[in-house]
Amino acid sequence: MKHAVLLALIAAARGEGALSVVETHAGAGLYDLQGEVARRTGEAEAGVGRLMAAGALPGPLDALRQAVRRENPNGGLRFYPGSPLVALGALGPGDRYRGCELRADDADSLAALLRARARGAAAEAMQADGYAALGKLLAGGDLVLIDPPFERDDDYDRAAEAVRLCLQRGAGVAVWAPVKDLETLDALIRRVEDLSPTRLLLAEVRLRPLTNPMTLNGAAMLLVDTPEATAEVEAVCAWVAAHCGGPAARVGVTRLIG
Ligand SMILES: C[S@@+](CC[C@H](N)C(=O)[O-])C[C@H]1O[C@@H](n2cnc3c(N)ncnc32)[C@H](O)[C@@H]1O
Repeated sequence: MKHAVLLALIAAARGEGALSVVETHAGAGLYDLQGEVARRTGEAEAGVGRLMAAGALPGPLDALRQAVRRENPNGGLRFYPGSPLVALGALGPGDRYRGCELRADDADSLAALLRARARGAAAEAMQADGYAALGKLLAGGDLVLIDPPFERDDDYDRAAEAVRLCLQRGAGVAVWAPVKDLETLDALIRRVEDLSPTRLLLAEVRLRPLTNPMTLNGAAMLLVDTPEATAEVEAVCAWVAAHCGGPAARVGVTRLIG
């Protein structure tokens, strides 16, 4: 959902001049699905495996499938591209990607990957706290992705403060958040609503009923003053719920402001 929505936003921003994508939490850039963690969680089979095996797909998911195929040129599904590579693949000459990653090993891997891959587009990885670095990175008109692990309680506060900064600096921002229980998500939504953006779209996919708040029951994205891509976002969420969710899966794409 996250990477297809990112592709939908980049496609919608096309034609508005050179694009600048900024990420606060960039990750390592490329994931080995045969690695220990990936095999243990089985997330890939329940998600990207279904994407790769699907028939016709909505545009952004089809673009994501192509991005995954580029990382597996011999076929199969061994490697999955993270958001920096997904974004970079959709950027062109004159565009720019900059991503922060706190972990030194992941930031080093990402920097090496971007050096090897950035054809035409300028791409840069920084080992930094993405919330703290954001102010220095915003140049006006950026598209920002905030994708924290939400392992720390202050991620919600810091994400909301980062949205405030983006709005002050004229950037559009997409925030990913887990759906565990509803009040945790609703509190974040209220914080963002209180910032009075011009446009706010909430996209939510629930994979199962929220009976166990200790598990990832789904995902939400708050699209704040981002380029208009509502129909594409709806199509992505509907596909994810139908193909990755259980019988009680649900989708909600709601324009909260604008
Ligand atoms: C959910 S992952 C990011 C995944 C990536 N956006 C993608 O879609 O491929 C979250 C990442 O944030 C990093 N991280 C945690 N706190 C951070 C912070 N304050 N600033 C920057 N990175 C942070 C973690 O090390 C982890 O790699």
